[in-house]
Amino acid sequence: MEELALFGGKPVREKPFPKHRTTGDEEKRIVMEVLDSGILSEFMGSNNEHFMGGPYVNAFEKKWSERFGVKHTVSVNSATSGLFAAVGAAGVGPGDEVIVPPWTMTATATAILSFNAVPVFCDIEEDTFCMDPVSVEKLITPRTRALMPVHIYGHPADMDPIMELASRYNLKVIEDAAQSPGGYYKGKLTGTIGHMGVFSFNCNKIIQCGEGGAVVTNDDELAKRLRLIRNHGEAVVATGMSVQDGSNIIGWNYRMNEIEAAIMMVQLDRLDHLLKERKDLVEYFEKGIRDVTGLILPVVKDGCTHTYYRYTMRLDRDSIKVPSATIAKALNAEGISFNADYIPLNLYPIYQKRMGYGSQGCPFTCAYYGGTVDYTMKNLPVTDQMTRTTLSSEVIRPPVTFVDVDQIIMAFQKIFKQIEKFDVI
Ligand SMILES: Cc1ncc(COP(=O)(O)O)c(C=O)c1O
Repeated sequence: MEELALFGGKPVREKPFPKHRTTGDEEKRIVMEVLDSGILSEFMGSNNEHFMGGPYVNAFEKKWSERFGVKHTVSVNSATSGLFAAVGAAGVGPGDEVIVPPWTMTATATAILSFNAVPVFCDIEEDTFCMDPVSVEKLITPRTRALMPVHIYGHPADMDPIMELASRYNLKVIEDAAQSPGGYYKGKLTGTIGHMGVFSFNCNKIIQCGEGGAVVTNDDELAKRLRLIRNHGEAVVATGMSVQDGSNIIGWNYRMNEIEAAIMMVQLDRLDHLLKERKDLVEYFEKGIRDVTGLILPVVKDGCTHTYYRYTMRLDRDSIKVPSATIAKALNAEGISFNADYIPLNLYPIYQKRMGYGSQGCPFTCAYYGGTVDYTMKNLPVTDQMTRTTLSSEVIRPPVTFVDVDQIIMAFQKIFKQIEKFDVI
């Protein structure tokens, strides 16, 4: 049998996978159109016709609203900005807690800190990696103000029980849909189910313009607050725009420019096709590894679709005792990039050492905060176990071809046929 690359054998693949690319001639054409117009942004942070931005920003927001069936789309310069704006618009502030899964990108939780509130980490569901509503309910206190489910890797969080908890406890729901544009939960598009939903258009995302994002909502007041926070709200209010509740209307510059908006108009037309390409690659890969034992492949729950933003599988501990980190090392040695080193956010120094603003430990030590948030793994048994069993990769995406996927399949077969060569836990 061929020696594993980890032990000195020849790797299955010697050249890197093609870089992520979603743009083509149409984007080139529309960018030239913007350049020819000479207007690269038309935003101004004051109460006049420029408060809403230029023609491409407005056209993109209209197009996104139509495609997603929402009343308002507020474009932003990243999903991070969108999350910060959404937490602010939701009225979160000092003394509040917001419940969020620890299995997400850092920005989901730092958006909470940015309004001097405290992130409380809930456990996740084993099969989807998303917020576990049962764990959420146990963590709700009188201080809880909002819930932030994340459709991580592209599978929807279980929104029905999450929305039921929100209505029972009067909480706002901000969906982090950065990884799931075009994904469905029981006939509804992810990002459009909660009070607000946030999308990312950074360079790695399913559709992208380098950096960018959008927040959607059906609520007029939330939309107004989002737009104020996006664009120097305090100045806009000073120059005449009225707002029901002026709190948190501390504006930043989260504005998208005309070039990004123009690119996103074309990218949106490509969304369905790009999702189909991802799904086809995943189906091809899963067919190729159907004889490999010990892998638990991503589920797609009833009524849901998966965007396969990141292909993430688990090891079946009943048959595979090798740590996922060792298998990732073996795959990487074969030239196939996989990770197994996920660190849940609660273990980051900012939470472990309760550092936040200044040197006083705000918001954790804030006089308004009467809680005692727990950042140990005690309430997170599923999260804890997942850190040792997960294998994740972003290579199964266009422009990767079936021929490239054949090599990923080959590497899995090669490694799992010789699994006895590895030390077990
Ligand atoms: C789940 C999630 N939330 C938020 C973000 C932040 O997105 P952005 O890079 O657009 O700020 C990302 C980006 O990787 C993400 O994956």
